[in-house]
Parts: sequence; structure tokens; C-alpha cells
Amino acid sequence: MTRLVALSAGVVIALSLAAVPAGAAEGTPTYNEHVGDILLNNCASCHRPNQVAPMSLLSYREARPWARAIKAKVVSREMPPWFADPRFGEFSNDISLSDDEIETIVAWVDGGAPQGDGAAPEPPDFSAAGWSHPDGLDPDYVIEFPIAWQIDAEGETPNFNLFTPLPFDDVMRVSATEVRPGNYAVTHHITTGLVDLPPGTKLGRGPAWPGGPLVDYVPVEDPDYAATEADAADEASADDEEADERSAAELEERRRARAGFGPYIPGVGARVVRDGQVREVRGDLFDYIIWNLHYQATGKPEVARPAIGAWFANDTDGKYQRTLSLREYTSENEQLVAPPPLTAEERAAANADRQAGQGLNPLLAPIPPNDPNWTVTGIGAFQNDAVLQSLFLHMHVRGKDVTYVLTYPDGREEILLRVPNYAFDWQFEYDLVEPIRVPAGSTVKAIARYDNSRANRLNPAPHKEVYWSEQSWDDMFLANVKYTLEDEDTEGDN
Ligand code: HEC
Repeated sequence: MTRLVALSAGVVIALSLAAVPAGAAEGTPTYNEHVGDILLNNCASCHRPNQVAPMSLLSYREARPWARAIKAKVVSREMPPWFADPRFGEFSNDISLSDDEIETIVAWVDGGAPQGDGAAPEPPDFSAAGWSHPDGLDPDYVIEFPIAWQIDAEGETPNFNLFTPLPFDDVMRVSATEVRPGNYAVTHHITTGLVDLPPGTKLGRGPAWPGGPLVDYVPVEDPDYAATEADAADEASADDEEADERSAAELEERRRARAGFGPYIPGVGARVVRDGQVREVRGDLFDYIIWNLHYQATGKPEVARPAIGAWFANDTDGKYQRTLSLREYTSENEQLVAPPPLTAEERAAANADRQAGQGLNPLLAPIPPNDPNWTVTGIGAFQNDAVLQSLFLHMHVRGKDVTYVLTYPDGREEILLRVPNYAFDWQFEYDLVEPIRVPAGSTVKAIARYDNSRANRLNPAPHKEVYWSEQSWDDMFLANVKYTLEDEDTEGDN
């Protein structure tokens, strides 16, 4: 038997050698046989119509004119964008190329970028509309922003918040959500959240930001509020411990549910839970969507109409995907270490720009001027046996690097992820190939460093102390991990 296999393998090799015509660029990889699949699997998720990248790379015809640029970008490892140190962790959304794949592309380009014989590889199923669900599915449910927003050719638009009614009031159980900008070139980021309007306000017409254009989607004073307020005061006076506890639990529930549909950030497409897991969008707890919009001028007038897509969960008994913030918190959101009180100045700086209701934590201690290695450590502790699913970090242009460390209750440590060159332009969520079981009492630390020195060429003002805000010239520390609980499914919980 063995001999037979060996024999036939030998025959195949002999035949294929004989098939190479004399004088052809022997061994030059071809698009159809080698390179097409690499581009389709590692590039096309962004390089296709209605997506973030400037050109489509779905076919030989589309890729051929870009051959030299493709070689340059893959050799420099600028494309595909991916920042995890390959020595730590394995991530399912890792689209980086292996050395072999890079060599194949280089040999293809150097050999004249031939198409080759045979059939061209078929692109994976993609949503024609540009949604990035990995199965190519269009969403089951779409919420479009009611108007197309206009962005001037020049000048700075501050970060601003608009509000639209949440169109459902039950719990939506989803397997995936995606926030799309409607115009990738002009959109810096969008975060969405679930909120109620501030007390005493209703949705109306007002400035999009202080001094900004008038729009219909901001909270304005509600003249009918006084009456409602009186009612609320009556209720509150039924001073009852149980009610207090209930409201503490409800506050906590609302806090967990605020993230809603998630963000659009370059690099983040559809957020898909694993098989058997669900996320919930709590229409029962909130009445409005907050859209935090950040645009940057492109040199020509632009319009952008963002949209939210949701894919319903089939498996309604799935495990609920939870978020643990790494800010010295436990998974029950109790603080591990009380942070030092902010000075009055710090508090003013933080609050002035604080965007209400987004679940973002404004506490980033000011980063000293000219410091090349300012370190911030966020920590979170698991109260229950849990299963770690993914890791996320958001900093701005001073962000330098980050290391995620898991510490087991017995003190054993494991590096989960290292991002040696953090890039503000690309914000990836790092999805673990193998979810990690973490016993109660384990902690995850995110150790992030900021470069506020002149050496950081993106630094707009090395001589300044940097405060927390959502503007990219200030900075943020937003680190979290997603997890499920070992012994819990969502039935009756959350
Ligand atoms: C996560 C999304 C994403 C992936 C994946 C990705 N790209 Fe890109 N690519 C972009 C974006 C956005 C730009 C334009 C901005 C920039 O250059 O950073 C770009 C730019 C480029 C350019 C430069 C285009 C120009 O105008 O000069 C080349 C070449 C390129 N990509 C090739 C690739 C190749 C080859 C792959 C796969 C091996 C790939 N990209 C994967 C998003 C992506």
C-alpha cells in the first residue's frame, strides 16, 4: 500500500514538471492558482465596493493595476493592518500574512503578475451593500440615521451627539451588530449607545453642538416637565429600602446595557458572537439611541448617513456576552482600588468634554508633558468562573503599546496579547481563537503606555499635559474584555 502511494506521488511530480513549458517563468506564482486566494481571504473584507479601502481587490482585473503597490504594502507589513505581536495569543480575526504568503506575492509581482491558467478563485460571499457579516449576510434589522449629515470641505467638526428614538421597546436578541458610517472617508469614528434623554428634556430642534448647525435630534427643554417631575418626587417619597435596592440593581442593569449596538471604528466591522452566544439590545430599558459622531474634513464637501444593522440570534438560549472594564473594577463593577480623588482642575477638564450617557469612563489621570513612557494600568477581576472571549483597547494618538496579562488566582501569569506599536487609525477587537477559562478570582490587566514626547510624530502638543476627552488631541484609556459566565445562560437573567 505504502509503495503504491509513493509510486503515484512520484508519477504526479514527474507529470507536473513535464507540464511546465520551456522558457516560461518557471515557478512564478499566478493569480488564479496562488495569489487570488490570499487577496480574497486577507484583503477583500476591506477592499471591495462600499467598504473602507480605496480600491476593490475582488478579481484579477481589479488587482493587477495595483500589483506594485500591493507588493510594497505587504513587504512593509502596512497591509493588511494588524498589530498583535505573533508570539502571544492566537486571534480569529488575525488577517496578517505569513512569510510564505508575502514571498508568494513578491514573486508574483516580480514575475509580471500573471493571471495563469485555470479558473479564477471565487470571492467569498460578501454583502453587496457592504455589510461585513462574515457569512455575507445582510442584516435582519436596519436603523438608518434619519438624515444625511453634511461635512464641510475644510475645518474641524467637534465630536457631537445626536439622538434618535429607539424603534423597539422589547429585548432584541442578536448574534451580530454593525455600525456603518455611510461614508468611510470622512468618518473618524461613531459610537452608539442606548440612553434616555436627560431629565427635563425632550427631542427637538437645537444646535448639534454649542454654536453648531440646527438639527432636529438634540435634547431641548421640555415645558411639560414640571408636572412629570412632581410625579417622580411623589414616587421617590415612598421611601422603601426594597425600592432602593431595586433601583440600584436596575441602574447596574442599565449600565451594562448601554453599549447597545457598539461603535464604528476603522477595522471594526460586524461584531459577531460565537455560536451558542447572544447579545441583547435592551429596548425595554431605553428609549433613545445616542450617536456620537466624529468627522474629519477631506478637502471636499461630503455627506454621511450612518446606519446600524442587527442580525437576530437563532439560538435564544445562548450565553450572554458580557463586558468587563479594566479600570480597577470587578466583573460586578465594584472598584478594586479607589482611585485618588481628582483635583478640581482635573475634574473640570474631564467633565467639560464628557459625553453623557456613553458608558465611557473619563478618568484618565493627566499625562505629563514630554513623557515618552507614561504608563496606565487597568485591571479587572472576575467574581465568577468565566470564559474570556476577546480583548479591546482604545487610546488616541499618544497611545504607544499595550500588554494584556491574565493572572490566575494561584499567581500564574500569562500574556494574552501584546500590541508593540499601537496605531490609532486601526482599532481592533482581538478575538481569541480558543476562549480561555478563567476561575473566579483571576484578574486581567491592560498595561498601556503613552508617548507624549516629541519623538511621537503624531503628537500635536508634546509640551502640554494631556487630559481625558474624546477629541483625538486629548487622550483616552478604554480597555475591556468580553466574557461569558461558565454556569449561566441568559434565560431569566439580564
Ligand atoms: C481592515 C481593512 C483592510 C484590510 C484587511 C486591507 N486593507 Fe489595504 N487599505 C485599507 C485602507 C482603509 C486603505 C487606505 C488608507 C491607508 O492606506 O491606510 C488601504 C490601502 C491599501 C493600499 C494603498 C492604496 C493606495 O491608494 O495607494 C494597498 C496597496 C493596499 N491597501 C493593499 C492591501 C492588501 C494587498 C491587503 C491584503 C493583503 C490589504 N490591503 C488589506 C484597508 C484594508
